[in-house]
Amino acid sequence: MKRLQLLAICAAVALGALEAQAGDVAAGEARYAETCVTCHGNAGKGMASFPAIVGRDADYIASRLTQYRAKEQVGPNSAIMISWAVPLSDEEIANLAAYISTTFR
Ligand code: HEC
Repeated sequence: MKRLQLLAICAAVALGALEAQAGDVAAGEARYAETCVTCHGNAGKGMASFPAIVGRDADYIASRLTQYRAKEQVGPNSAIMISWAVPLSDEEIANLAAYISTTFR
């Protein structure tokens, strides 16, 4: 029981730290559900030519989204991602990065 409580406290502290620095996980979840889920799936595993995003850290996700928003060619299908990333704000990118990196394992 003690261990569970400790884990819960650690998780709360970790989430608090993430929210303060990197974005709001709940807001990221809501934004992900609007569009991203269609291609990357609800566990981030992707499908067919839509890549898995599970297991990536927040910095990776945020820098990719920033690249797509700047219309940079990253992989063979960047054009698809660019159209979804262009409307994202810095805050939305931070929220999505926080959500994806902490939720998909
Ligand atoms: C219509 C399908 C589609 C939608 C909707 C979509 N994506 Fe993607 N996503 C892709 C494809 C295709 C790629 C690979 C692009 C390339 O080749 O550069 C990709 C790549 C990515 C990558 C980089 C993966 C890697 O391994 O580098 C991230 C991160 C990502 N998407 C996040 C998102 C987020 C967050 C959203 C919602 C705002 C979203 N995607 C919406 C299809 C989609």
